[in-house]
Amino acid sequence: MCGIVAAAAGSNIVSVLIEGLKKLEYRGYDSAGLALLAAGGIERVRAVGRVAELQTAASGCSAHTGIAHTRWATHGAPAEHNAHPHVSGSIAVVHNGIIENYESLRTELSAQGYVFTSETDTESIAHLIDATLKGEPDLFAAVRSVCRRLVGAYAIAVIDHQQPGRIVVAREGSPLLLGLGEDGNYAASDASALLQVTRNMVYLENGDIAELTASQVRIERLDGTPVERPVHVSELSAAAVELGEFRHYMQKEIFEQPEALANTLEIIGGAHSIQAGIFGAQAAQLLADVDHILILACGTSSHSGMTARYWIERIAGVACTVEIASEYRYRVSVPNPRQLVVAISQSGETADTLAALRHAKALGQNKTLAICNVPESAIVRESMLRFITRAGPEIGVASTKAFTTQLAALFLLALVVAKQRGQLSPVDEAAYLDQLRHLPVAVHKVLTLEPEIAIWARRFADKKHALFLGRGRHYPIALEGALKLKEISYIHAEAYPAGELKHGPLALVDTDMPVISVAPNDELLEKLKSNLQEVRARGGELYVFADADSELTASDGVHVLRLPEHYGLLSPILHVIPLQLLSYHAALVKGTDVDKPRNLAKSVTVE
Ligand code: G6P
Repeated sequence: MCGIVAAAAGSNIVSVLIEGLKKLEYRGYDSAGLALLAAGGIERVRAVGRVAELQTAASGCSAHTGIAHTRWATHGAPAEHNAHPHVSGSIAVVHNGIIENYESLRTELSAQGYVFTSETDTESIAHLIDATLKGEPDLFAAVRSVCRRLVGAYAIAVIDHQQPGRIVVAREGSPLLLGLGEDGNYAASDASALLQVTRNMVYLENGDIAELTASQVRIERLDGTPVERPVHVSELSAAAVELGEFRHYMQKEIFEQPEALANTLEIIGGAHSIQAGIFGAQAAQLLADVDHILILACGTSSHSGMTARYWIERIAGVACTVEIASEYRYRVSVPNPRQLVVAISQSGETADTLAALRHAKALGQNKTLAICNVPESAIVRESMLRFITRAGPEIGVASTKAFTTQLAALFLLALVVAKQRGQLSPVDEAAYLDQLRHLPVAVHKVLTLEPEIAIWARRFADKKHALFLGRGRHYPIALEGALKLKEISYIHAEAYPAGELKHGPLALVDTDMPVISVAPNDELLEKLKSNLQEVRARGGELYVFADADSELTASDGVHVLRLPEHYGLLSPILHVIPLQLLSYHAALVKGTDVDKPRNLAKSVTVE
C-alpha cells in the first residue's frame, strides 16, 4: 500500500525512480508521481493509473535528486490532484501512512493562508514543512520538528529546491529503508525497489530521521541523538522479483511453492526429532508453561491460522483461538499471561496485525511469536520468538506461496508444543518430519493437474457466484479458495463448512451456482458425501477435489479431480493448490488484472 522511492546520485536518477516504482507496484496503488530537483525548481509529474503512464509522462526528464510515489487512495479519490508528491513553496513530499491529526493541522495551516489543492492528509505535511522552514531554514531540522507534531503512521521523503542534492526521510510506523550505492544513496519502502542499484540496505527504526546526499547518509533520532544502524547485505536476487517465463507473478508464485516449502523446511534438515529452538533461542523456556494459543492475523494469513488450530488442538492438545486482528485489537477480551500470542503475516507490516500484537502485549501477554516472511519487519522485531518463512518475495496481491509456507511453519509449531508437553511419540515425530520433507515433491505432483483445472475454470468463469465447501481442517481451505476467487476474478464466492449447508446456503443452490468441494479422504468424507448429495438434488453442479484413493466418482453434474496423494493431517497444504490454480485460470478467462486486482493492496499498512 503506497510505495516510496527516493534517489540522490551522481547521474540521472529518473529511470531509477521509475524502475523502483515498478518493483513496488505489487503493494497496490491507483496513481503515481515523482518530483525532481531541476535547474529551475521542482519539476513534478503525476498520473492516475499505472506507473507505465507516469513513465511516458516523465520521458525526457533528468535530475540527480528526486522522490517518487505510488498512492493507494485513502483520503481523497484516486485523482491527479491527490497524487503525491505534494508541493508547498520550495519543497515536495511523498508519504506512506495516515496522519490522524491532519484535520487540525489543515485548519491551523488554512488560517495561516495556505490553500489546499487536494483532499489528502499528506498535503498538511507539505505546508507544515514550508511553514516551519520560515523559522528554521535547515531542511533536516525543519522536517524533524514537523515529525514531532505528526500523530499517526508515516514514512516520508522530502526535497527542497533551495537545498539541492539533499533528501530528508523519516519513519514512524510505516516501513522505510535506505540503500547505500556506489554512485548515490537511496530510500524505498522495500528492498526490491533498490536491488537495481545496491544490495546494501539499512533498515530505519520508528522515530529515525535521515539525510541522504549522493555521497553521504546520516541518521538521527527525532530527539537529535545520532544513531548508527547496521548495513544488511540483501539476499534477495534481482531475479527473485523478475517475472521470467511466467505470465503473472501469481502464476510464478504458485509454481514456486515446492521450492518455497523446501527452503522453509530446510531448518529441520534430515533430523528425526524437532527442537523448540527453531522458533528462537528462548522458545523452549517460553513455551514451557503455555496453556493456550491465540493466533492473530488478517486475510489469507488468518486462514493459515484457522487451519493450524486443528493441528494444534489435535497434535499438541492445547486449546487454540484464532482472531481476525482488526477485531481483537478493539474487543474487550480476557487476558491470559500464559497464552502464546502468534501473529501471522506475510509482510510483517499489516497495520491491524501489528496493532493487535501490541494490544495483546499491553494486556500483559508477553509470550509472542511472529510467523512472517520478512525478517526485518515490525511484527518480527516486536515479537519475542520468530519463525521466518522462506517463501521469497511475494509480489502477486493474492497470497499463495506465503500461505503454504505459513502452514508448514504452523505444523512445526504444533509438533514443538506437542513435544514440550510430552504428547508426541518419537515414532510420530519422525513420521511427521518425513511427511514434511516429502511435501515439496507432493506439491509438485499436484501442480501437474493445472491443464484439467484450467478446463474447469473455463466452465464457471461466466458465473456470478460460487460456493466452496469443506469440513474440518479443510474448511479454512474452502475459505481460502473462496477468497482467492473473489480477489482476482471478482466472482462472488462464499465458503461454508459443509455441515452448515442446510442452515442457509442451500437456499442459494440452483443450476447457476457452481459448488466447489474440498473432499480429501479423511474421517469426514462420508459426511461430506451426504452434503454433496444435498447440493446435487437441488441441481447444483459440483466440482470435487478428491484424493487418489477416494471412492468419489464423476457422474452427471459431478466433476471429480483426484489429487495424486492422500496426505493425512498435512492434506490442507496440498488441497489449497488446485483452488489457487482454479481462481488464477478463472481470472485469466475473465481478463482481470491478476497481480493487481482492483481496490486491493498487497501490504495493508493503514487501518
Ligand atoms: C492483504 C493482502 C492479502 C493478505 C492480507 C494480510 O489483504 O491482499 O493477500 O493475506 O493483506 O497480509 P499479511 O502481510 O499480514 O499476511
